[in-house]
Amino acid sequence: MTTALAHPNIALVKYWGKQNKAGNMPATPNLSITLSELSAVTTVSDSDHFQFHLNGKQVDDPKVSALMSTMTDTFNLPPLHIDSTNNFPTSAGLASSAAGFAALVTGIDAHCNLGMDAALRSEWARRGSASAARSICGGFVALVPPDWQAQSLAPIDHWPLEVVVAITSHGTKGVSSTEGMERSRLTSPFYNQWLRSAGDDYAAASGAIAARDFEKLAAVAELSCLKMHSLMLTSSPTLSYWTPASIACMDRIRALRAQREAVFFTVDAGPQIKAVCLPESRMAVAQALSEVPGVLEILCCPLGEGARIIDD
Ligand code: PMV
Repeated sequence: MTTALAHPNIALVKYWGKQNKAGNMPATPNLSITLSELSAVTTVSDSDHFQFHLNGKQVDDPKVSALMSTMTDTFNLPPLHIDSTNNFPTSAGLASSAAGFAALVTGIDAHCNLGMDAALRSEWARRGSASAARSICGGFVALVPPDWQAQSLAPIDHWPLEVVVAITSHGTKGVSSTEGMERSRLTSPFYNQWLRSAGDDYAAASGAIAARDFEKLAAVAELSCLKMHSLMLTSSPTLSYWTPASIACMDRIRALRAQREAVFFTVDAGPQIKAVCLPESRMAVAQALSEVPGVLEILCCPLGEGARIIDD
């Protein structure tokens, strides 16, 4: 029996849209930070048939089954029992699938002695969910061509940012990221512009991280996030993952920044707002967001390490 742990990550330069070929590769370079506190813990053990349990219930998850079947064929794996638990809401825009697939591949690699390095684990995690490739690494992480295996851009101690998460709904999302981004690729009139501008956003964000330039990172990360949500809104049928409280939180974060707090927002395919801040602004940001009507819960996360084995 082997247990692996992985954290979710949040993209500061988003990916939204895949390449039109096998391998589950994003269409654009993207970059994220890994969060601590939130985790997926996955135990892999021998069994007489394949079984997948998520948060204590047996589930039939087509993405997990597809990945397991390819890995079983490639590595000649025995039947495995997989038990995965998230200590945070699942399928609610908190990157549960990123943490889940990173922990799953890390657990299988160790349990079955496959001898993968981090790049190869990232490759396999990406096949489950592209953003999961990034949760293999900690700190600041890049997912870029030509290999589309995550690379560490900088460790946590390079720039220990903090993330305040405002939960505005505990519901699960109605349209999955995979379905949503395919809809945007096919129907949003802004999709080609998104493809053209992603390289510049990636270069600006990685430069801002290298230089620890918070203002520059704030500008490019909010722009990338809002461009992605513009693709969603201009898809047909339209897609919106926000609640009224999500919008109120974004307004509040802009107001905090105008009052000289070092904070910016990012939002994935869900209603939760992630406020990225310098440690000295964390208390003020958490307090302000907790007072926004419709905010149900506040989580504070320093940056986290990559996927790892916690019990073998
Ligand atoms: O990993 P996927 O295919 O479920 O897509 C996730 C996409 C976003 O979280 C919205 C953006 C990103 O880059 O993580």
